[in-house]
Amino acid sequence: MSYGLPMRFGPISDGVEYHIIMRAYQESEGTAMAKAISRANIQRYIMLSATQTPAMEETWMEQTATAKDDCTWAICIAQDSSDELGTPIGSTGLHGIKDGRAHSGIVIYNDSFWGYGIASACHRARSLYAHEVLGIRAIDSFVIRSNDASLKALENIGYTRTGTQYSHSIVDGKVCHVDNLTWVNPFGHQWDYFWGDNQPPEEFNISRRNAELAIKRAKKDVTFM
Ligand SMILES: CC(C)(COP(=O)(O)OP(=O)(O)OC[C@H]1O[C@@H](n2cnc3c(N)ncnc32)[C@H](O)[C@@H]1OP(=O)(O)O)[C@@H](O)C(=O)NCCC(=O)NCCS
Repeated sequence: MSYGLPMRFGPISDGVEYHIIMRAYQESEGTAMAKAISRANIQRYIMLSATQTPAMEETWMEQTATAKDDCTWAICIAQDSSDELGTPIGSTGLHGIKDGRAHSGIVIYNDSFWGYGIASACHRARSLYAHEVLGIRAIDSFVIRSNDASLKALENIGYTRTGTQYSHSIVDGKVCHVDNLTWVNPFGHQWDYFWGDNQPPEEFNISRRNAELAIKRAKKDVTFM
């Protein structure tokens, strides 16, 4: 598994048009990533408080390349449809994959690209991949209470809030709660297997529709490279 297969989609548009590629990191990309991810504005959302060095990022990339239970991508902005590499602006992945279940995460560490629908498009592509390539049944995630963009992006593609971890961490000197979320594969036997003989709570039935729509949209938008 390690890095996911490369995918591209776009242009996604919100005034500006972006071509996105999700692919493996290249060896030379550790330095820029370390610098970007070490900024306080990024660290506060990913619950880190330590400078990341190029060596740390290169070690992470090597470990990621061989991690059996993970499926990770660099999120890159490409110049146009002929650019097959682009420049990394973030990372996303499915982690701890076991028995059809995983945890997801995302960080767009170049914050000049926030607010253009890039995370939403990457979440859609990742859920398509989870369904079609990995056959994943459910994905868990959590979001710091004040991180409205992250919560919205996850709910839009079919994650459901399941509860709260109170006093989970200290961010900027303040106690923070986090919301737990779960995505359930909306299709056929995956959905049925997840719920077994239990009736899904109504909020999951609503999210199921969003999850289906997100995957259908990704099927149209995403090209495997
Ligand atoms: C959270 C993050 C991934 C969002 O990325 P993004 O590309 O800016 O997200 P999108 O543009 O797809 O926006 C997602 C939704 O949030 C909304 N949104 C964007 N910025 C917002 C803000 N500041 N406040 C409230 N909502 C916001 C968007 O309108 C969109 O909702 P809509 O589709 O219903 O209109 C990005 O801000 C980031 O990397 N932050 C740091 C790391 C992080 O928080 N990771 C997630 C940890 S759980």
